[in-house]
Amino acid sequence: MTEALGEASGKVILLGEHAVVYGAPALAAGIERGARARATRCSGASALRLGGRELRAAPAEEDVARAFAALLGALPDVGPVRVEAESDLPPGGGLGSSAALGVAIARSVAALAPAPAAAAVTDAAAAWERVFHGNPSGIDTTAAARGGCFRFTRAHGATSIAPRDDLWLCVGSTGVSSSTRIMVELVARLFERKPTLAATSIAGITALVENAALAIEAGDVVGLGRLMDLNQMLLAGMFVSTEAIEALCKLAREAGALGAKITGAGGGGSVIALLPPPGGGATSNVAADRVLAAWRDAGYSGFVTRV
Ligand code: PMV
Repeated sequence: MTEALGEASGKVILLGEHAVVYGAPALAAGIERGARARATRCSGASALRLGGRELRAAPAEEDVARAFAALLGALPDVGPVRVEAESDLPPGGGLGSSAALGVAIARSVAALAPAPAAAAVTDAAAAWERVFHGNPSGIDTTAAARGGCFRFTRAHGATSIAPRDDLWLCVGSTGVSSSTRIMVELVARLFERKPTLAATSIAGITALVENAALAIEAGDVVGLGRLMDLNQMLLAGMFVSTEAIEALCKLAREAGALGAKITGAGGGGSVIALLPPPGGGATSNVAADRVLAAWRDAGYSGFVTRV
């Protein structure tokens, strides 16, 4: 085979970001948007084409080139490859864009190997992600690789959760790109200085996550929305919220959302707003239209997705 394709989904974190880095559970779900890659055998050095630029795999170069080199190093050797990759997730948007790219690229390259290399794909995507994130919990690459709705811990990985009904979410963008690595470091410094805050935040978020898993399985969207709001309060207490995030959450609640919070690292990026389900197997949701209109009127963009 001289050419192979790979794809992976973006994700939202329903509850539990940041605490998950410290071993607490989190709930995440794949979304329809994601990343795609095409790997082709070539002569010369391996290269990655991304966002209109072509980069050689080089350990000492900029982040993307280093990440590509680390990813290739974790896969079975398939010789030089040229990979073209694209994502329809905003970078730094809290939607797992870099993890989705890492998994899609690793899948496309691994598909050129003579034997299946699924385990190596996970390692390669993790190696890619470490370049951007420093200390990733692994929830982003797990979501990119498996999609669906799941509970995740660092120690035990993912366990599927079956929502009783579809969850309808609006995803809103602050328009500000943020670095997960910087936000994770910021929380680490805060937790070092304030160990009591660390312990209460992690314990509080753990309780919310466990209750939210039950609410999702029971189809209790009103309860789930309240738990998301409480999680947002704890995240704000960890200083990862911003004025734009709070504005997006408030606008969504006023327009009828059942709950709203950061998804991902915060400091910018995206929020999710949980919507009342339309019922009767409908394929559109008037509550989503109201939330998106409220965001648009205030100068923010967003889209609707179903889990
Ligand atoms: O990559 P983001 O912005 O979706 O954030 C990932 C979630 C964090 O808990 C903040 C970091 C991690 O590695 O779990």
